[in-house]
Amino acid sequence: MPPRRLTFPEGFLWGAATSAYQIEGAWNEDDKGESIWDRFSHTPGNILDNSTGDIACDHYHRWHEDVALMKGLGLEAYRFSVSWPRILPTGHGRVNQVGLDFYSRLVDGLLEAGIEPFPTLYHWDLPQSLQDKGGWSERSTAEAFVEYADIVSRKLGDRVKHWITHNEPWSTVVMGHKLGMHAPGQKDFPAALKVSHHLLLSHGWAVPVLRRNSPDAEVGITLVLFPIVPGPSNTAALPVFRKCDGYFNRWFLDPLYGRHYPADMVAEYINAGYLPAEGLNFVRPGDLEAIAAQTDFLGVNYYTPVITRRRVTPENENEPLTLLYNGPEYDYTDIGMMAYPDGLRHLLNRLYFDYQPGKMYITENGASYSDGPDGKGRVRDQRRLNFLRDHLLAAHRALECGVPLAGYFVWSLMDNFEWSFGYGQRFGLLWIDYENQRRILKDSALWYKQVIDENGFAVPARSP
Ligand code: FCB
Repeated sequence: MPPRRLTFPEGFLWGAATSAYQIEGAWNEDDKGESIWDRFSHTPGNILDNSTGDIACDHYHRWHEDVALMKGLGLEAYRFSVSWPRILPTGHGRVNQVGLDFYSRLVDGLLEAGIEPFPTLYHWDLPQSLQDKGGWSERSTAEAFVEYADIVSRKLGDRVKHWITHNEPWSTVVMGHKLGMHAPGQKDFPAALKVSHHLLLSHGWAVPVLRRNSPDAEVGITLVLFPIVPGPSNTAALPVFRKCDGYFNRWFLDPLYGRHYPADMVAEYINAGYLPAEGLNFVRPGDLEAIAAQTDFLGVNYYTPVITRRRVTPENENEPLTLLYNGPEYDYTDIGMMAYPDGLRHLLNRLYFDYQPGKMYITENGASYSDGPDGKGRVRDQRRLNFLRDHLLAAHRALECGVPLAGYFVWSLMDNFEWSFGYGQRFGLLWIDYENQRRILKDSALWYKQVIDENGFAVPARSP
């Protein structure tokens, strides 16, 4: 059987993604303020290899070279994030012009290279001074976010045509405030629920501001979303599915799409003592209307599914939220996340049927594999290439069903500081030699370049 060719729709955007703290370095240069990730990584015991983002990929100084590499790859779009404390060192008030100029030059450089900039305003590096006043558990942080969004979009809004307000509120809520594995390192689920509301509220408030300052731009938010897959041993029951889906997906999707917070989850959290008997007492009149502001696209980050399990062990019996199951019967990437390409097709189809976003972008998808340069300096990361190919195949199947998917961003353009894992996990298309900051194109990058050139790829013949 000859190989089948997959072709993506005309205008489908091929991109790659990064975030400020993970690549920029220059953590205290040019009047940048301290962020919660500076504080968190500088506190011993938080990062697996005791590293920090102080230097990272030194992108702050090497962005020229990085844009040239992107151009060489034929990238059509680049998703990066703006560091809030570079713009407003104390979170609000005084503006740091040098910080603003950095992103302005980056946007110009991208446009000159024919690359569409997709800035994300919040990819987790909250100014530490706002954290000192309570961070996202305070409503005032949502107000400060709007001030910040206004300043950045006034500066860049004439050139930026795609804005992303937030990256993965779920991660800030759960990793940062429930599990304490991300900055600010809190373990307080009741506070985390407030955090989730203020994140969404700040998004909703920022949407009209971005539209005003950047009238021709599309505005959206990026969520990390999980297809829920029944695991072994009688876990396909609807209540288990509903609870997982509520915890990971609906808690964010429902209010964004005008459906209020899911009532079943509110009841669950009241029962578990995470919310007071009166429920969501931090939601004020008008908040839900603000959160449901019409957006132009939904950004979807997909890495791994959630496999349900029954609550069977004495340790998790009374814990309503431990629903993840990791079975040895699946494929895992080096970071321990299950690779499940077909989950992307299910997820995209479900989002389209259930929420009808006008447009979707896969704003992150990728894999951590540690393959490094061989004796000749070549990085043969065939596993990453397969991972990306299989996920693109799944995305294409969703496209064939009519899902309005407009683009795909590999996470990540380059190896970088992988949060609490430090530099041990490598997601990049570019290998970074952290000793000398040399960048090497991995095999997956060369393959991706060809995919972009041809707007598709040949699918290897599969046995029936
Ligand atoms: C996502 C984050 C991104 C990166 C990838 C691996 O959750 O948005 O910064 O860490 O995971």
